[in-house]
Amino acid sequence: MSQTWWRGAAIYQVYLRSFADGNGDGVGDLAGLRARLPYLKDLGIDAIWLNPWYPSPMADGGYDVADYRGIEPVFGTLGEAERFIQEAHDLDVKVIIDVVPNHSSTESAWFKEALANPAARDRFWFADEPLNDWQSIFGGPAWTQVPDGQWYLHLFAPEQPDLNWTNPEVHREFEDVLRFWFDRGADGFRIDSAALLIKSDTAYEDLDAVHDVYRRWREVADEYGERVLIGEVWLPDQERFALYLRPDELHTAFNFDFLSCAWDPADLRRSIDLTLATHTPIGAPPTWVLSNHDVTRPVTRYGRADTSFAHGGALHGTPSDPELGHRRARAAALLAMALPGSLYVYQGEELGLPEVEDLPDELRQDPMYARSGGANPGRDGCRIPLPWSGEEPPFGFGDGTPWLPQPESWRKLTAEAQRTDLGSMLNLYRKGLELRRRLLGDGTLAWLPLGEEVLAFTRDSGLTCVTNLGQDPIPLPAGTVVLASGPIEDGLLPSDTTAWLT
Ligand code: GLC
Repeated sequence: MSQTWWRGAAIYQVYLRSFADGNGDGVGDLAGLRARLPYLKDLGIDAIWLNPWYPSPMADGGYDVADYRGIEPVFGTLGEAERFIQEAHDLDVKVIIDVVPNHSSTESAWFKEALANPAARDRFWFADEPLNDWQSIFGGPAWTQVPDGQWYLHLFAPEQPDLNWTNPEVHREFEDVLRFWFDRGADGFRIDSAALLIKSDTAYEDLDAVHDVYRRWREVADEYGERVLIGEVWLPDQERFALYLRPDELHTAFNFDFLSCAWDPADLRRSIDLTLATHTPIGAPPTWVLSNHDVTRPVTRYGRADTSFAHGGALHGTPSDPELGHRRARAAALLAMALPGSLYVYQGEELGLPEVEDLPDELRQDPMYARSGGANPGRDGCRIPLPWSGEEPPFGFGDGTPWLPQPESWRKLTAEAQRTDLGSMLNLYRKGLELRRRLLGDGTLAWLPLGEEVLAFTRDSGLTCVTNLGQDPIPLPAGTVVLASGPIEDGLLPSDTTAWLT
């Protein structure tokens, strides 16, 4: 792969706890992932991004990091992580890991030291009283009091104390953490909550000094070559967003505008145009994301009356039409795969897994659920352990009882059941990714005027992608259909269907 392999890459997101369990304790781990590497290679991806794998009390699914240079024992060992990176590289698959610089864990050595010694508190935000009335992003106050009376800031859960990026020691620590993993072969970092690091008395989102951090990180990455920095930057203002992608900062960032779009031709076209207009002038590759470990699964979301995504909008009991959602998720997958830039696929998306919405409340683990007083169901429903094979839970996930229960109905959705079904979501992703690798990826697009309810464009290779978001079937342009998300009848593309033509 070239120096700029990430520009057109298909990147598969592994939520390790729920991917595959190698040791039978009910929690996914590195042994399970290593055993399933051939599946990922066969799926046709170029890189794997793993959610945090560090030692963690798991107050927020591992985004509460106790030690940035280790591996959570439930997941395996540092030696296994190194072997995993080597095995992925042997298959020509890159490995991107998650780094969490905004906050750490109350179980980290630094925080424990801070609690024991008030003179060692400058790596966090401690104060004699809350400095503002900020609310935690998960709900509830953003300040928590410690036994000696001081308060500390946590933008997320109380177990995730925010780090103080005015302290040079924090900068040195993270530059060293980047090197630690680059030295072990990591091909890049996904940067958690990347726009939140710098705080003033009154604001914490997107303050200018955050760019100094990433300019320095870029220097570190460039020393190694062919390494990528990917920002988790949720910013509605695209001009501000683009500042993170300047040539001496991050290489790419997730496209949450596209992810949040309703299944609506005008909204999708607006988002695609905006994305291209934002990225093209600065030479950064766009990214296309339909789901991740924080958002409602597309099959469920697209079957609802409101098909857009907003944090906090995922309310209990919102009805969804599974057949409609499935059809649209298939069409959306081929649309996203055809767009110029890099693509993210969240584990289980390729199996068409729905959001699990009927988890018993006492099993919910996401702090978002408890801290919203139960108003928000949280994100557990998109983090259910994957179904691999067999007729009943745990569906080949591992020998133990999975840490979150899988629905019985997933017997039809196992990777094994889908492999032999030519019309399955899994085979749509496999064929789509294979064609994408040859004919799509990085580059440009030219829109075709096929009407307001149709998204149609031709890519540099000559492949044309047509998505019909209207009610009625439409005639396809001239060409040979090489892949379609649903049946084409008499040359007509039905509603909620995408076709690729050459
Ligand atoms: C990011 C992660 C999310 C986590 C939060 C706090 O948004 O994707 O899962 O809860 O940051 O680290």
